Amino acid sequence: MKITASTQLYAVLGNPVRQSLSPVLQNGWINEHGFDAVYTAITIKQENFETALLGLHQCGLMGANVTMPFKERAAAYAYALSERAAATSSVNCLTFHDSGFIGNSTDGDGFVADLDARAPNWREMSGTTLVIGAGGAARAILYALVDMGRTNIAVVNRDRKRADEAVSLHPADSVKSIDWSALSEHLSGASLVVNATSAGFKGQNDLSLDMSQTDPDCIIYDTIYAPKETLFLLDARQHRRRTLNGLGMLVGQGALAFEHWFGVRPDLMKGLARLEAELSS
Ligand code: ATR
Repeated sequence: MKITASTQLYAVLGNPVRQSLSPVLQNGWINEHGFDAVYTAITIKQENFETALLGLHQCGLMGANVTMPFKERAAAYAYALSERAAATSSVNCLTFHDSGFIGNSTDGDGFVADLDARAPNWREMSGTTLVIGAGGAARAILYALVDMGRTNIAVVNRDRKRADEAVSLHPADSVKSIDWSALSEHLSGASLVVNATSAGFKGQNDLSLDMSQTDPDCIIYDTIYAPKETLFLLDARQHRRRTLNGLGMLVGQGALAFEHWFGVRPDLMKGLARLEAELSS
């Protein structure tokens, strides 16, 4: 990679952000495609987010990913929002123009893009899609699933009220909420079970389900990728279910951001391989 005075700058903005895999992912694709650009990570202090964004815009930043804890503030500050970003009040991808920044949300579509890449037959599988969680990740996934015409989706969350709220944004004949106490009985008949909670993330409590209740061809997806295999996925793998961790969703949302900025969809599997190599080095 040759950096010159005309190299265009992209970044992931967050706090903390030093652990981010996005620079490895995006610079890999930038190199593959031969663009004169570079992607870095910028830590922004909580109190400075909006002023930092303005300054970065004036300095010529071309595009950015936004991560914790700024996704909602980025949505409030963007001068225009995609339909998805407006509906979820969450922005993870900014594209800078003369007059300001357009906010997009690529998390949910990144999840779908990952399933298309790693489990191509998932669209044909009938059966329930069971989404566990009702936070930002779950809502983004839900939007993408409903948008692609998926029906027979059930959402379950410890706090039932939040599940009801998430579901209320969608047609009742596509999505329903179920009670946490009924989770086990809904495992059977599901073709896709997604952990979209933060349970299982490094240092947090695990999510443990009785995977023997799931159908043998069910796909078990965890949006978490650190650790690489949560207890949720380990349980599923021990029952010989097909398992996918959240590294692919990270790659999927990054690929869609790359497409917004450079106008070309990069290779998801190469991106995934690069991150797997990075994590095992
Ligand atoms: P994010 O934006 O990453 O989705 P969030 O908005 O804080 O984060 O949501 C976290 C989700 O994980 C919520 O659905 C939360 O459930 P509650 O709404 O009931 O709190 C869920 N969650 C966190 N820890 C959990 C645990 N140990 N078991 C089950 N669900 C958990």
